[in-house]
Amino acid sequence: MLCVLTRSASRTCLVKPCLLLSPVSVVQIFDRSLVHQEGLPKLPVPPLKQTCARYLAALEPLISAEEMVHTRKLVQEFQLPGGVGDRLQKSLERKARKTENWVSDWWMQSAYLDSRMPVAMYTSPGVVLPRMHFQDRQGQMRFAAKLIAGVLDFKSMIDSKTLPVEYLGGKPLCMDQYYQVLSSCRIPGPKRDTVLNYAIGKTSPTHITVVHNFQYFVLDVYNSDGSPLTVDQIYVQLEKIWNSSLQTNKEPVGILTSNHRNTWGKAYNNLIKDKTNKESVRAIQKSIFMVCLDAPKPRVSDEMYHNKVAAQMLHGGGSRWNSGNRWFDKTLQFIVGEDGSCGLTYEHAPAEGPPVVFLVDHVVGYMKKTEMVRTPMIPLPMPVKLRFNITPEIKKDIEKAKQNMNIMVHELDVRVLNFTHYGKKFPKSHKLSPDAFIQIALQLAYYRMYQTCCPTSESASLRMFKLGRTEAIRSTTTESLQFTQAMYEPSTPNSEKARLLEMAIKVHREHTHMAIHGQAIDRHLLGLKMVAIEDLTSLPEIFMDTSFAVASHFNLFTSQVGSKTDCVMCFGPMVPDGYGVCYNPMDDHINFAVTAFNSCEETNATKLSRFLEDALLEMKTLMEQVSKASD
Ligand code: COA
Repeated sequence: MLCVLTRSASRTCLVKPCLLLSPVSVVQIFDRSLVHQEGLPKLPVPPLKQTCARYLAALEPLISAEEMVHTRKLVQEFQLPGGVGDRLQKSLERKARKTENWVSDWWMQSAYLDSRMPVAMYTSPGVVLPRMHFQDRQGQMRFAAKLIAGVLDFKSMIDSKTLPVEYLGGKPLCMDQYYQVLSSCRIPGPKRDTVLNYAIGKTSPTHITVVHNFQYFVLDVYNSDGSPLTVDQIYVQLEKIWNSSLQTNKEPVGILTSNHRNTWGKAYNNLIKDKTNKESVRAIQKSIFMVCLDAPKPRVSDEMYHNKVAAQMLHGGGSRWNSGNRWFDKTLQFIVGEDGSCGLTYEHAPAEGPPVVFLVDHVVGYMKKTEMVRTPMIPLPMPVKLRFNITPEIKKDIEKAKQNMNIMVHELDVRVLNFTHYGKKFPKSHKLSPDAFIQIALQLAYYRMYQTCCPTSESASLRMFKLGRTEAIRSTTTESLQFTQAMYEPSTPNSEKARLLEMAIKVHREHTHMAIHGQAIDRHLLGLKMVAIEDLTSLPEIFMDTSFAVASHFNLFTSQVGSKTDCVMCFGPMVPDGYGVCYNPMDDHINFAVTAFNSCEETNATKLSRFLEDALLEMKTLMEQVSKASD
């Protein structure tokens, strides 16, 4: 049995994993999780006037005074009592009363399932793990075996509903996303995709998919008594897989999943016309997760190593390398290269980065304490190789997908910056929020590069609310602009620059607080727009206004994804002339991943990384000088 995470069937299904009846032995824990999940508040609909005022404030640093006059007039008309905005607000409030979360379906559709762009690079993030010390296939297999055992250990907490509840600002978070990342897969559709979750029901999957040299295998990871395979059992199975996939001339069927969604949708229907292909595809889709044993990549300098691995995680490096060694629709794909490179990529629709990285932290911890011990082995069946019949038409689709992927690979510039001068301890020692400090450094870096600011979005968690996903913190504010401009002004005293920096950080913190408490503007505006589309014949003018388009064009699309593991998440830019910036602030250093598109002459990931490094150093010097002077 499976669950389709789309609008029609979704709500009950999305909640269901937490509410599933479970074996008697875990009833108590299960009851606790039920109480926790049921006790979560519903996402509020912010007051219309508040959103309108905050929308205008967000536009202030981004548009001209003339545009502001025009937009202010539209916004004032929109929010008049009995006006369009008022009607939409009432509709939205009605929807909020009737649903568990008024925005999560719309968000899932508009941000992910309706998007026709390829998932690789455009929406699926990658995670780069620290380089491992193996240099050969035995090392690769051993690492992969431990990793698989670690994920199964994590899964056991999900299965027994013993996953510890997470907290943010002292409040418990919705744990639903953890129940969506395993045993799920995105399925292409003609206009909108769906996500299927196979973990719901009596027969949840017991196998993972392993891919090597573009050849896919079903690896059953549970013994007949239901116990998970041990690390050495998995190792032996991986060896069998390796030895039966030595040919390197196989068609990279998986590369089809990297295509534009409409193109892939058509190719998908074509592919699964054949019964064998259909069964193979289903086996991949249904598997708990996937492990990609990657072929060695061309050697690069130590300086370039992390950039290359980030690219490997995001797209696989092109059709000659590992891009065909994936199934990009699969929610979780761990990637292990022969050269010690490792990480993962995940399809974003069912979950955000933090749950995925929490899983990674667990797996890394598990791997550290688990040694391979040779135990007497009961012979295990050979993992099943999945067959694909490649017709001339499928071959043509694969060739097109290869070409497209190779263009995409050349298009993406990825830079990993290991900023080693300080970490989150430094801003904390000055009683400043590290996240806000980094966001303002990004504003300074961008301003230094372009002498202007740009619309910036930082992801904030809405998981304090039932089925909450994310909200946007708009990091470009009048205060951040005042600070960045002051840093350009040699005549401005340091004490004034530091005051402006502290003010910009304070405002960012306030915006963060509003966002995580469901009071920011972006999801509310999306909700109003979606109600308008559903209820009215034409869109209200504020959504047709140029200022709205400007405000939604996030040249800086950013997120903090913190973890215990010294890793970094990476994702592509949101707009053709923008940057994707993800960071993991550790105590004494910060890992950044910056991406940009090569086809845009104005953007350059390496240059922005350098400006970012300089901005962080300058801000540190400023804080130190000012506190020394005041001693
Ligand atoms: N003085 C001293 N310490 C401070 C401080 C101050 N003024 N302000 C914050 N700190 C401390 C915090 O207590 C925290 O301490 P810890 O390291 O012991 O936990 C630490 O600094 C980090 O806080 P801060 O940098 O302010 O960030 P945050 O942890 O509050 O995170 C967000 C902010 C927006 C990243 C977070 O709320 C969030 O929403 N994360 C999810 C992002 C997401 O979903 N991304 C999706 C990606 S796909």
